[in-house]
Formats: sequence, C-alpha cells, structure tokens
Amino acid sequence: MTASEPQPRRVALVTAASQGLGFASADALAAAGHDLVVCARDPERLEAAAGRLRAHGVEVAATPVDVADATALEGLFGLVDERFGRLDVLVSNAGGPPPGTFADLDDAAWQRGFELTLMSAVRSLRLAVPRMRASGFGRLVVIGSSSVRQPLPGLVLSNAYRPALAGVVKSLAVELGPDGITANLVSPGRIDTDRVRSLDAGRAERTGRSVEEVRAEAEASIPMGRYGEPAELGAAVAFLASEAAGYLTGQSLLVDGGLVPTLP
Ligand SMILES: NC(=O)c1ccc[n+]([C@@H]2O[C@H](COP(=O)([O-])OP(=O)(O)OC[C@H]3O[C@@H](n4cnc5c(N)ncnc54)[C@H](OP(=O)(O)O)[C@@H]3O)[C@@H](O)[C@H]2O)c1
Repeated sequence: MTASEPQPRRVALVTAASQGLGFASADALAAAGHDLVVCARDPERLEAAAGRLRAHGVEVAATPVDVADATALEGLFGLVDERFGRLDVLVSNAGGPPPGTFADLDDAAWQRGFELTLMSAVRSLRLAVPRMRASGFGRLVVIGSSSVRQPLPGLVLSNAYRPALAGVVKSLAVELGPDGITANLVSPGRIDTDRVRSLDAGRAERTGRSVEEVRAEAEASIPMGRYGEPAELGAAVAFLASEAAGYLTGQSLLVDGGLVPTLP
C-alpha cells in the first residue's frame, strides 16, 4: 500500500450488543469509523440494532450468538474472518449474571455464571489475540462491573467472577505488551439500562418499596447524583480502542459517577 492509498477502516467485534452497554460501545466505535461485527441472542432486536449502527455509514455484520456457547463463539470469529479478514478491536460483553445471595446459588447456577461471565470473555480473548498478533495492533476491552472493586449486595456471581476477569485482563496486558496489543477492563457503576432497571424492580419487590424509591436511594449514593447514560460508557470504550490509547494497558477503569469510594 502506498502512502496515498486510504487506510482500510478498523474492524471491531462487540459481543452482546443489541442494547445497553454493548450497543453503546458499538455505537461509539461506529461513530469513530469502525466496521463492526455484533451479536446477541434475540435476532430481531439484534437486526434493529445493526440498522442503527449502519446509519453511521460503516459496514455491520450481525449474527445471533449466545456468548456462553463456546462453539457459537468460534463461529462468530469465523464471521469476522469471512466478512472483514481482520480484527482490530474486541469489546467483550455479556448479559449480567442472575442476582442471588450465596445461599441462593447451587452448583448449576455457579456453573452457568462461570460460562457466561468468565468463560465467554476468556474464550473471546483467546480467539481475538492471534488475529491481532497477525497485524501488530489490537485493543481488547472487557466490560466488567464495579464489583471488581467493591462487592455488590445480592450479586454473588458478579462478585466472584468479575474480579477473576480483572486478573485475566491484567495478565494479558503483560503478555501482550510486546505485540502492541492493549487489554483493559471498563467497569460500570449504575448505568441506565434494562439490566439496572430490572435489578431495581427486583429490589423494589423484595423490599416492598416502589421502583422510584429504590432508584432515588441509589442515585443519592452516587456523587454525580444520577445514573450514567450508556453513551458515557461507550465513549470510554471508544477511547480505549483508539490509536491514541496505545500506551494505556492493564487498567481497570470505573465509569461510575464516583460511586465506588475506594482509592483508584
Ligand atoms: N448497566 C450497568 O450499570 C451495569 C453495572 C454493572 C455491570 N454491568 C454489566 O454489563 C453487562 C451489560 O449490561 P447492560 O446493562 O448493558 O445489560 P442489558 O441492558 O440487559 O443488555 C444486555 C445485552 O446483552 C445481550 N445478551 C445477554 N445475554 C447474552 C448472551 N448470553 N449472549 C449474547 N448476548 C447476550 C442482550 O441481548 P439478548 O438478550 O438478545 O441476548 C443485550 O443486547 C452485563 O454483564 C452487566 O451485568 C452493567
């Protein structure tokens, strides 16, 4: 390629991207000019999301995949190869694990949480790395949770598996530095998505309060005084995926309006 030839657009794969934080990440990457591969389970909602992403003028391939299914995940990376022949950015996202206290969880629930929250990311990272090594550029971004810093009441699966993800990301940052590949974790506090609204509804039901009361109490605990917007998390993901973020790796970034009171 000569200097005058246009650079091909970078290609990003965003998993679990038909709504919420996955969609917001894909949307920010599309706005920054990435071609995209996206997945989620429900085909109709996914296709509607793909249509909104195409409005940015980029190529978007969308296919229904359950990220907890190892074989389907391999097929998703096959689609990336087939459709674009390169992968520059992975945003590994998944649906949240079901709420539950320790007493609520049997072996089957632990196993499902392991596959959904930890192994979907581990497998996606494993599939992404060789594709990025081939080009000497890569941005790995894993969506976590504020539970990586502070356990959340009634979300024991998140409290157990998200910190494990933080360990994976930090290990990868060390291993992949020489290849020019960065690995970072982006952790939401309370961003206004269906997931958070449904957790609020569950808490309201358990405590006999209205959803509005539960939300007001949660908002009052956030220094910014409100839930975040999905686009506010998407912007952080797009920055970490950019050329400009090339020296930023192994970080665990909270997007939480100041919610978690620990030192950074
Ligand atoms: N929102 C927050 O403030 C917050 C805070 C802490 C952690 N998180 C975590 O961030 C992640 C995203 O949360 P969100 O708030 O964006 O959730 P959301 O609004 O419920 O959206 C989840 C998205 O993931 C897809 N999805 C769910 N399970 C999937 C699976 N097994 N395979 C493929 N796609 C799947 C859903 O589509 P389908 O249902 O069609 O598959 C949907 O597109 C979750 O892991 C959540 O626990 C969020």
